[in-house]
Amino acid sequence: MGLLLPILLAFLAALIGALYLLGVFRQRLPGEPPLDKGLIPWLGHVFEFRRDTLKFLERMKQKHGDVFTVQLGGFYITFLQDPESFGAFVKESREKLDFSKFAVHLVRRVFGYVAVQDEHHILQTSSNKHLKGDGLEVMTQAMMSNLQNLMLHNISSAADQRDWIDDGLFMYCYNIVFRAGYLSLYGNVPHNSRESEEKAKEKDRTESEALFYEFRKYDQLFPNLAYGILSPRQKSEAERLMKFFWNFLSVQNMKTKDNISRWVWDMHQARVEMGMKDSMINKYMFVLLWASQGNTGPSSFWLLLYLMKHPEAMKAVKEEVDKVLRESGQEVQRGGPLINLTREMLTKTPVLDSAIDETLRLTAAPLLTRAVLQDMTLKMADGREYFIRKGDRMAMFPYVVHIDPEIHPDPQSFKYDRFLNPDGKKKTEFYKAGKKLKYYNMPWGAGVSMCPGRFFATNELKQFAFLMLVYFEFELKNPDEKIPEIDFRRWGFGTMQPQKDVPFRYRLRY
Ligand code: HEM
Ligand SMILES: *[C@@H]1O[C@H](CO)[C@@H](O)[C@H](O)[C@H]1NC(C)=O
Ligand SMILES: *[C@@H]1O[C@H](CO)[C@@H](O)[C@H](O)[C@H]1NC(C)=O
Ligand SMILES: *[C@@H]1O[C@H](CO)[C@@H](O)[C@H](O)[C@H]1NC(C)=O
Repeated sequence: MGLLLPILLAFLAALIGALYLLGVFRQRLPGEPPLDKGLIPWLGHVFEFRRDTLKFLERMKQKHGDVFTVQLGGFYITFLQDPESFGAFVKESREKLDFSKFAVHLVRRVFGYVAVQDEHHILQTSSNKHLKGDGLEVMTQAMMSNLQNLMLHNISSAADQRDWIDDGLFMYCYNIVFRAGYLSLYGNVPHNSRESEEKAKEKDRTESEALFYEFRKYDQLFPNLAYGILSPRQKSEAERLMKFFWNFLSVQNMKTKDNISRWVWDMHQARVEMGMKDSMINKYMFVLLWASQGNTGPSSFWLLLYLMKHPEAMKAVKEEVDKVLRESGQEVQRGGPLINLTREMLTKTPVLDSAIDETLRLTAAPLLTRAVLQDMTLKMADGREYFIRKGDRMAMFPYVVHIDPEIHPDPQSFKYDRFLNPDGKKKTEFYKAGKKLKYYNMPWGAGVSMCPGRFFATNELKQFAFLMLVYFEFELKNPDEKIPEIDFRRWGFGTMQPQKDVPFRYRLRY
């Protein structure tokens, strides 16, 4: 009898402790944003969030306004939805809002890579040197040569044949852009004579095809992998794939290649100098492959699809591209030399630039997340202040801005000239409630984690679209084809993918 009370008390204490850990007792304190824990302890709103992030956030905004804290799988996350106040998130000091802690954790789980302290600056330095400005000159040439290898090899061999070729647009675009991007960053199979050149190019094609094939499998597992909810079978498949990539992209393999980009090489070299083991560097090579190749292909698909669905856009872009080619003194001829699409030519395409910005507005939907390292005050543009707790997270989902009708009228429509001024220059003035916005289109994220590959990525998209337009005619098999639904599972992971592919056909223009 005498024993029962202590046992009961201990049980009660454990229960209260557990409930505490599950967040049941958390209350909104004065000055904090509205708190919405959801009905399920600890998990909170995670299922609704996963099902359709955009819809969930819109519902929360309706209910609570543009700042609110929700419980998601054990975390309390404060979402900031007011574009005028985005600066408060993006520019907050790293001592308060930290990106790397969260990223390091995810990268370890999803790619097996264990980061070392303070390595983020290597990525930033290398990207600044090699993926923009003069560095981009080299990358543009590599990309051009690889794109032409992949797009034209089997067609030039059948030069007088202008038969239509059928394909799925998504797979066609993703395949070509992925492989060309990969070859440009990770290098080509070397050759030392004319005839071995053809062999080497063929090897580039078959090896990159094999890589793409496996990459797509990983790509499809990715959302659930990132949320840690794979079935045991999927989990072992993901592990198999990871080993494949580590091996395929290994330092040992890389050293047999020519034309390795300085971007990849510097990042490898910096880690060698830190004393990192090769086996770990191999894993980092996979991180880079993922970051660099997962979004550009899907983006190129949406770009071509929107152009095909909007004849006035297609006409405007095609005229621009033809003009730039003509002014460079080049011409596409059957059996003639391949065109030399230079970086300089790519700076003269404002219409294509706008079409790309518009495509990314509609289809790029990253989720920006930061860990709150110290208690802090969030200062909104209109003077409101919110107290944010240490240990929580903060997040921004810029897509809500992309489709805000006040900022972008008729937001669901593709308007190729939305980012173009009447004088033909890039448009950068967008307003909400009469105030000019700094953050009106954020496909690349913002702040410390902003995509370091954005200049190269834009260039890739432009090169691919340019070559498609000057070499090929292409059209939808079914002119009335609807723009496919997006796959909602991928909200937050970058460029969205369609729920199904779209049949199209293409053939040489000349
Ligand atoms: C249309 C294509 C692309 C889109 C929409 C895109 C978008 C993004 C976004 C939104 C982020 C930030 C994620 C975050 O804040 O957590 C990011 C990060 C990153 N991107 Fe891109 N990206 C693209 C292409 C590329 C390319 C071509 C490269 C490299 C050649 C690249 C390299 C990276 C890397 C290395 C990071 C990680 C940055 C870090 O850890 O700070 N991306 N990208
Ligand atoms: C290296 O790249 C250049 C173009 O930048 C290309 O002409 C050359 O063939 C490439 N080397 C190999 C081995 O493919
Ligand atoms: C060219 O290759 C692609 C895939 O590599 C294939 O789908 C297409 O049918 C080929 N075209 C010709 C004309 O052989
Ligand atoms: C293309 O043009 C650039 C700049 O004019 C030149 O440096 C490069 O060698 C050319 N490439 C080829 C393959 O002709």
